[in-house]
Amino acid sequence: MDTTSVWRATAPKAALPSLQGDIATDVVIVGGGITGVTLALNLAEQGIPAVLLEARDAGFGSTGNSTGNLYETVSRGIHRIIDRWDKDVAHAVTVARREAVDQIERRVQKYGIGCGFRRCALYRYATSEEGKERVEKEYQGSLDAGLRVRWEPSLPPPFHPPHGQVMVLDNQAQFHPQAYVRELARQAAGHGCLIFEDSMVLEVDTDQRVVRTVRGKVSAKHIVLATHSPKGLHLVQAGMVVNREYGLATRIEKDGFPAGIFWGSGVDRISARELGVDDETYLICVGEEHKTGQEDANINLDRLEAAAAAHFHVRDIAFRWSAQNYAAADSLPYIGKDATGCFIATGFETDGLTWGTVAASIITDEIIGRDNLFAPLVKPSRFSPVKGAKGLVEENVAVLKSFIKDYVTDRPGIPLSQLMPGKGDIVKVAGESLAAYMDPNGNLLLVSPVCTHMKCKVHWNSVEKSWDCPCHGSRFAPDGTVIEGPATEPLQRHFLQDVE
Ligand SMILES: Cc1cc2nc3c(=O)[nH]c(=O)nc-3n(C[C@H](O)[C@H](O)[C@H](O)COP(=O)(O)OP(=O)(O)OC[C@H]3O[C@@H](n4cnc5c(N)ncnc54)[C@H](O)[C@@H]3O)c2cc1C
Ligand code: FES
Repeated sequence: MDTTSVWRATAPKAALPSLQGDIATDVVIVGGGITGVTLALNLAEQGIPAVLLEARDAGFGSTGNSTGNLYETVSRGIHRIIDRWDKDVAHAVTVARREAVDQIERRVQKYGIGCGFRRCALYRYATSEEGKERVEKEYQGSLDAGLRVRWEPSLPPPFHPPHGQVMVLDNQAQFHPQAYVRELARQAAGHGCLIFEDSMVLEVDTDQRVVRTVRGKVSAKHIVLATHSPKGLHLVQAGMVVNREYGLATRIEKDGFPAGIFWGSGVDRISARELGVDDETYLICVGEEHKTGQEDANINLDRLEAAAAAHFHVRDIAFRWSAQNYAAADSLPYIGKDATGCFIATGFETDGLTWGTVAASIITDEIIGRDNLFAPLVKPSRFSPVKGAKGLVEENVAVLKSFIKDYVTDRPGIPLSQLMPGKGDIVKVAGESLAAYMDPNGNLLLVSPVCTHMKCKVHWNSVEKSWDCPCHGSRFAPDGTVIEGPATEPLQRHFLQDVE
């Protein structure tokens, strides 16, 4: 199955060169999602020499596989931040996020970025009785956080009548995230930042302040890991839950769906929006989140399709995709320098188009020595034993369980002869467990199932044809190459003649 998102399919690449040779600069940014590219333009506008290295192309990560919604609240509910912190912190969150959305709008206008930016309302409603309490709680939480929310009795067509009232937050926004980052990358390059695509960083030397790719290296005063999850070993990874979530886009009639961000909670938790691009109109539905490497991706995608069909008139599905999010135990992201002295920006949950923009401002301010009032709240070294403790313990127990389940019970594995073309599974070859994928032409790729980050065992993702690690979310291609997550080393390749 092709898992290219509607965003990636409708906004071609920025087509920037790859790194060849060695460069010394002030700041090296690893990662060309919204965080890295926004930071690149911030620094370029300030005249600070910087280099950005992107493993594939700008927007390749979660940015180009998101829903393209921008909002001052947070999707899991601002009331959770009040529960874990207090009203003042929740208010500070909304202020920082509102400023980030405004900054995106200013940039779109200043640089004439064609990314369909538009202001619109955000609607929260219950898809079943189970969701009503959550919407009501979020209404009160929003008021406590200083947000101007209001009730509406119903939703515009084609929505079914909701259960209970609809909470509305006006003046939020939507855009095409892939078109935005691609243009931002071009603007940053035009303003003097050296941006390289197809330049995967294979080593981050925090002592020498150097990062290396296959064909070159960059030395810099500051290293920024804008890789969504920081590369290598970082304390923050212990407390984060890593999830995958699914998206689909179906063609609809022009004006067949209202403008707005629609979040339904209840038995079906679904996010929906309209997108007009290239003379086509799409309905986008996103949902069915689960922990990375811990469920069958096909089942979750089928569930999303069923939920979309139950709520909307879905005819044929033009695009299906998936993306990863990282959730911090205490509901706030980690932005700033960590113990290795590198800047990191992670824990954005599904709100990172705005958090990534906030992160770029915080990191810019720290580099140029400007105060940032919000920075202390999200610094990676914060320790919040009460706020994050439950989530931290739960996540470490989940990691431990995954580790023990795979090592103590040793996943049985199927005989290699039973592996069908197009499938991946753990197989036993000469008594050894290997991760095997057979491509549709019958070619076999064997790799070690041991994740190179911290040695958990990877699981097959049947939708995206990848090996996904349940512990901290590293993902690998069938040949072992790193796709995303904290791992830097590929899975070890094996060849049948060597193991038989
Ligand atoms: C299904 C889904 C829908 C979402 N919808 C929304 C939404 O509507 N609104 C919102 O605010 N947020 C949303 N999010 C969250 C948001 O997409 C992310 O938080 C955000 O895009 C993160 O941006 P980033 O730049 O930090 O990371 P990414 O966009 O993941 O970028 C990281 C980049 O680093 C590169 N990279 C990784 N390793 C290396 C390496 N070794 N060398 C060089 N480069 C490397 C990757 O190729 C990638 O391009 C959604 C998330 C999901 C999962
Ligand atoms: S991602 Fe940490 S062990 Fe695999």
